[in-house]
Amino acid sequence: MGWLLAFATNVQGATPNGNLASEIGTVDVVAPQYKLGQELYLENCSTCHIALPPSVFPTQTWRNLIQDTSHYGVQLKPLIDPPRMLVWRYLATFSRPILQDEQIPYRLGSSRYFKALHPQVKLPNPVQASSCVTCHPSASEYNFRKLTKEWE
Ligand code: HEC
Ligand code: HEC
Repeated sequence: MGWLLAFATNVQGATPNGNLASEIGTVDVVAPQYKLGQELYLENCSTCHIALPPSVFPTQTWRNLIQDTSHYGVQLKPLIDPPRMLVWRYLATFSRPILQDEQIPYRLGSSRYFKALHPQVKLPNPVQASSCVTCHPSASEYNFRKLTKEWE
């Protein structure tokens, strides 16, 4: 067990944002300690629209979204602990903090991180969760590596 813990700690320490070079095929590897958090995230946040990958918003956006039950004009079932804490750890690990003095974005179109993931891509305006699938055919399976033919 000792070696396993050491390995897990090491992986976490080496990759604060989960940007480990270890991508198997088209799917990001999620370290074991974040697996449950990811599952709970998908369970709670993919019923009305596709689950958005944490990297598209700064950490602060996620923190507020998972604590607020009024959600873009709809009411969400409140996330309670411990699931909320696990979801939070997953989202916080795979997103990056906002810059100082930057306004917290709540729309993809105003997120600097979303734009940074799409250099040279002409995005629809407004860009919505429903439009990801036009270029990411497996978006509903939470796979944003796979692209449609014209982008390969
Ligand atoms: C009950 C249905 C429902 C659930 C469950 C839900 N959402 Fe939403 N979400 C919406 C609606 C409706 C919108 C607004 C759509 C619009 O106006 O384009 C939205 C929009 C969003 C947006 C903004 C996307 C954009 O730029 O337009 C984010 C981010 C988001 N949701 C994250 C989450 C997260 C995180 C969870 C889980 C805690 C979640 N959603 C669960 C209904 C839901
Ligand atoms: C018009 C096409 C297009 C649309 C729409 C689009 N993307 Fe992308 N996306 C791309 C392309 C092309 C790349 C690869 C960019 C590169 O590598 O320079 C990419 C890359 C990404 C990545 C990085 C994947 C990686 O390598 O880890 C994420 C995450 C992502 N997109 C999420 C989204 C989400 C979420 C949406 C919907 C809100 C979306 N994209 C909508 C074309 C698109």
